[in-house]
Amino acid sequence: MNHEQYKKLKEITGEIKSRIDENFDVSLILGSGYGSIIDGMGVIDRVKYSSIPGFPHSTIKGQRGEILTTKIEGKKILVFNGRFHFYQGYSLFEVTLPVRVSKLLGAKIIILTNAAGGINKDFNPGDVMIISDHINLMNNPLIGFSIEGYEVFVDMSQPYSPRLRNVAMYIARKLGIENRFKSGVYIATTGPSYETKAEIEFFKRIGADAVGMSTIPEVIVAKQEGLEVFGMSVITNMAAGITNLPLKHEDVLETMEKTKKILHPFFGLFLKRIITFL
Ligand code: HPA
Repeated sequence: MNHEQYKKLKEITGEIKSRIDENFDVSLILGSGYGSIIDGMGVIDRVKYSSIPGFPHSTIKGQRGEILTTKIEGKKILVFNGRFHFYQGYSLFEVTLPVRVSKLLGAKIIILTNAAGGINKDFNPGDVMIISDHINLMNNPLIGFSIEGYEVFVDMSQPYSPRLRNVAMYIARKLGIENRFKSGVYIATTGPSYETKAEIEFFKRIGADAVGMSTIPEVIVAKQEGLEVFGMSVITNMAAGITNLPLKHEDVLETMEKTKKILHPFFGLFLKRIITFL
């Protein structure tokens, strides 16, 4: 982030603040196919990305492109329904804007969600992988960072909050869906083409359990901003060569649709539980 981008961040946040509340507790960034999660939560405010001057707004199929706010037991939740991907041509500053806006609006915890291809053979499409760690094969969003008062040598030895991961597993057990909840290492490429079989074999050997095209830049910026991070992937398909099926975005969305059944109750209880930490 350079000075011009910092100014833009402040302007965008000012505009958002003038239209919704502030002092949020938790921020939630929803990836492909997660949009319906907030349907049952009682939306308070809704701001379309396209109505915020300077805010990126073109999203991909399966994403809505709006900021929503809701409340759970008095705690305020900020939701970015639709994320920006590096492969859409956005800069990593734009990709990570929702994270910096979340911090400026008061969030302490950020929840990042995505769809990913399963590399670990113990996973099945429709499973949820709680991200325990990651391997970044994208770029680093802090390159060229020039704003004073921030650390750029951000510690990444434990980016994913152990206590939030524990709560997630506890909620899964409570709901009797623990067989669908796995834990593992997320690896991200820029995309947008899917991986080759040789790449997936390489990713497997270096310790990755699932592959996607997002989230890691947001996690790095979240750690720089001092946020507590939770990340999860819905395994929408097995990665190239793990099964012999060709990969299609439609299949990703179809699996997301089927996984709603477990995601809705999970998020309801998970959010209720983690806000007690704040
Ligand atoms: N590869 C990369 N990104 C993905 C995949 C995949 O197989 N599935 C969903 N997002």
